[in-house]
Amino acid sequence: MDPVSRTNLTRRLLQNLKDKRTDHARDEAQVSAAVFTSLEHWQRERQALFLDAPQPVAFSGELAEPSSYLALSVLDIPVLLTRDEHGTLRAFINACAHRGAPVATGQGTARSLVCPFHGWAYQSDGSLRGRPEDEYFSTEAIDCALTALPVSEHYGVIVVALQPSISQDTVDTALDDIGGQLAAFGFADYLPIERRQFDVAANWKLVNDLSLESYHFTPLHRDSVAQVLLANAVVDTFGRHSRWAFPLRSIANLADRPEAEWPEQFQGSLTFTLYPGVMLLVNLLGAQMIRAEPGKQPSESRVTYVGVRGPDCSARDAHTAYAFGGDVFAQEDLPMAEACQQGLTATGQDLLLGRNEPLLQFWHQLWQEAIQFPRS
Ligand code: FES
Ligand SMILES: [Fe+2]
Repeated sequence: MDPVSRTNLTRRLLQNLKDKRTDHARDEAQVSAAVFTSLEHWQRERQALFLDAPQPVAFSGELAEPSSYLALSVLDIPVLLTRDEHGTLRAFINACAHRGAPVATGQGTARSLVCPFHGWAYQSDGSLRGRPEDEYFSTEAIDCALTALPVSEHYGVIVVALQPSISQDTVDTALDDIGGQLAAFGFADYLPIERRQFDVAANWKLVNDLSLESYHFTPLHRDSVAQVLLANAVVDTFGRHSRWAFPLRSIANLADRPEAEWPEQFQGSLTFTLYPGVMLLVNLLGAQMIRAEPGKQPSESRVTYVGVRGPDCSARDAHTAYAFGGDVFAQEDLPMAEACQQGLTATGQDLLLGRNEPLLQFWHQLWQEAIQFPRS
């Protein structure tokens, strides 16, 4: 983070701490329980927020090497990211032109990707390099390329569109509004730690809601997160994205020190939320991406938790922080989302979003608007 932003955020956090307050909305808000249970609502969200909108899916560092690849499943669409020997990033539907099998799984480096079914081999630009018993096929190799998807890579975040018909400009500009905030972190140089995936019995929005308010820190995370972080938040929005900052307990020590002596590292945790709701958690050692997307039905979601570390941070320490965050998320947060899904389904009662949950209000409004007025 640049020094001016860091000082401003620290000032605001200290002021909130002093005033025993958190940034807040003007009014309480309500959200209908149906937005977490209705099949029709869920299908419209799936289309407008995921299939029709650019999707942040990975960190650049996950395929940093020349000739590297990363195979993903995004809304059950097989997606293949490749970086060629010159560093150019591309995205494809990971489906072989012969019969649709994935031409790569997991991640790694390879000069060509060979489909495991009948051995067709592809180059990292998606073109067919060769196939066994070529003489038995009359379709030209040039017509057997992988289907390309629009993809962009800015600020160390890879954004892909799930339909070839979406314009390249749409993915190129997806992060523009929050780019100024992301640029200073240099995520492009961050190194990969690990990817984890969870299948969760809760609507995707209930999973996202876990990372948009600190109201729950003390009751739910009494023995974990609340030991090191305070709930007094500072929130900002940038177009269709947001930033949520909350302080380390140690920030209180800065209150009596001149600003010139404040440390170079921000004494808090930051969560950027990138449209349509992908979390980018930034701390002293690295960053994590939490991506929740609709699963098979309204009450299910697929969650990916990806970690990267700062180039100067120890791999061991960064992995410990990543694992700690993942364990808290899996053992404390996700079970609560699943329990809420059951409760909402049983009562059908509206949810309440307090004045102290301003980002929940912002995002639920945005998600609602997207299905009323779809735009890419
Ligand atoms: S499906 Fe890939 S080679 Fe047959
Ligand atoms: Fe939490």
